[in-house]
Amino acid sequence: MKITVIGAGNVGATAALRIAEKQLSKEVVLIDIVEGIPQGKALDMYESGPVALFDTCVFGSNDYKDSANSDIVLITAGLARKPGMSREDLLMKNATIIRDVTTQVMKYSANPIIIMVSNPLDVMTYVALTASGLPKERVIGMAGVLDTARFRSFIAEALDVSMQDINAFVLGGHGDSMVPVVKYTNVAGIPLTELMPQEKIDQLVERTKNGGIEIVNHLKTGSAFYAPAASAVEMIEAIVKDRKRVLPCTTCVDGQYGIDNVFCGVPVKLGKNGVEQIFEIDLSESELKALQVSAALVDENCKSLATLLA
Ligand code: LAC
Repeated sequence: MKITVIGAGNVGATAALRIAEKQLSKEVVLIDIVEGIPQGKALDMYESGPVALFDTCVFGSNDYKDSANSDIVLITAGLARKPGMSREDLLMKNATIIRDVTTQVMKYSANPIIIMVSNPLDVMTYVALTASGLPKERVIGMAGVLDTARFRSFIAEALDVSMQDINAFVLGGHGDSMVPVVKYTNVAGIPLTELMPQEKIDQLVERTKNGGIEIVNHLKTGSAFYAPAASAVEMIEAIVKDRKRVLPCTTCVDGQYGIDNVFCGVPVKLGKNGVEQIFEIDLSESELKALQVSAALVDENCKSLATLLA
């Protein structure tokens, strides 16, 4: 198993380290265009092996040749948000970067699974699918796991219970239109609605929707990376170990939920072949509508890139 991480910034480097520490592959290659950064960070990680107790080889490079024959490629390249920016403000610049990165990746790996982290997430997953020519189950976006992790952490804090016991689903696009699905949110099986008043749930839903910008406003010079990296690595682990995890991921929704061929976050089964199944769960009328609106926004942005991707 070989995993390549494109982009040696905060998300990429943190993800590479987690992959190594969990020994998810024999080799992790970290690639970035900035000379010295992937080499320095990768060597530093590798040297932590004897102390952190892993044998994974971490290697940094500026050359896509070193990504050859990757099984999984995690793409984190591109610009991150600054205060006052929406994820959509990154659209054109990141679309060009992701198109070029994907083309480079495909030169050296015949059939990788690509996991996208760059924003605006759902649209960049579409860009990678288009530029790669891979089957759609092999190009997956990381957003639902992150948004759900935020929702779960806020619920755990509010109830003073273990994070581990919180099950939740946040669906839709990774943006202001995301859809936290309260009906499927529970604490060890106990519906959330039995544990806190609706007003409190509404507050946590709102905080979840603004979870990304809350971090951007603290950091000022960039966006979140610990939770995004952990979320991407959870997806990678599901694929590497063929665990058939059921996680909210961005995938090409084709017919389910009344959505026609648009990338959007829905519950999927994740295993060695990538997205092995899309679950169509029963949503309330308003949640279904919200999901469709969220998908329509993604679709509009994808269509605006037609010339770039032609
Ligand atoms: C966030 C960015 C990474 O949600 O989209 O933190």
